[in-house]
Amino acid sequence: MARVLVLGAGYIGAKLAELALADGHEVVLADNWFATERSQLDRLAAAGARVETADIREGIGGLLEPQPDVVYLLAAQASRPLSERDPDYTEETNVSGTRRVGEAVGRAGVPRLVFGSSLHVYGGALGGEVGPETPYGAQGDLAHLSKIYGEQALAIEARRHGFELAILRLGIVYGQSPVEHDAEESQTVVDKFHRLAAAGEKLPLDDGGRSTIGVVHVEDAARILLEAGPGTENVAAETVTVADVAALARGEEPPGSAAWTFSSPFSYRHRLADYLRR
Ligand SMILES: NC(=O)c1ccc[n+]([C@@H]2O[C@H](COP(=O)([O-])OP(=O)(O)OC[C@H]3O[C@@H](n4cnc5c(N)ncnc54)[C@H](O)[C@@H]3O)[C@@H](O)[C@H]2O)c1
Repeated sequence: MARVLVLGAGYIGAKLAELALADGHEVVLADNWFATERSQLDRLAAAGARVETADIREGIGGLLEPQPDVVYLLAAQASRPLSERDPDYTEETNVSGTRRVGEAVGRAGVPRLVFGSSLHVYGGALGGEVGPETPYGAQGDLAHLSKIYGEQALAIEARRHGFELAILRLGIVYGQSPVEHDAEESQTVVDKFHRLAAAGEKLPLDDGGRSTIGVVHVEDAARILLEAGPGTENVAAETVTVADVAALARGEEPPGSAAWTFSSPFSYRHRLADYLRR
């Protein structure tokens, strides 16, 4: 049994906590309730998780005693529209907050930190196989730009203090989790199209849906995070276009014209077509 600290009790953090509890681990979930309501964690608390209030901008020292075996850093201001409306909060959380978590984890002697990064670090206009050796690319918003800073700042702290660092670059995550957000700006394209298609509504396709995206079911993402070892990897079961997602949601054959492929060494139990065709 491991002692697990999940910073960010949101969509992915809550699913990770659910799996960790099922595996018999001791789980602490912490959040500042920026995007998630504490009451959304009631079911996990009843299942044995300890739920704490903590803000990564201000320090997490109290959560590191007794020392966790692993810290999952999933607390972030993750929404692009919100990063445009509130750049300061986004930077304070994703930039300074992320660096402070790395410092605190290092000083406390925690052996492993797992960071939820994003496939967006590669930018767009790619080709061929895109993997951890592909360089960072140009960024379009602060929520995603901050992932590059976060990865590098945590790597500095990991070298300085000698803890193991796992960086997992997640694709767009979909599927059911104990915490889901109602706000439009917090929903990603897969679940949005799933919902709109079920309601018989039109699916909005910017620039014909040509954007290439990596996608992963939340249960696969949470399992991969939970079991992560040191190093940097992509977490994407499939690479598709937004038009593919729309076609699958409408029950049509996807055009399948993704411009590149995100490589990933993990095995995945969930497929997009099964999820969208239900
Ligand atoms: N969901 C996706 O499709 C996706 C894709 C790629 C990367 N990611 C990354 O994975 C991580 C988790 O994403 P998610 O979908 O669970 O997001 P989420 O918004 O559901 O969860 C993030 C949590 O962090 C909390 N938080 C915000 N500011 C905080 C602060 N200052 N201190 C403490 N907690 C704070 C929020 O209240 C929220 O509960 C994020 O870093 C996100 O960028 C997510």
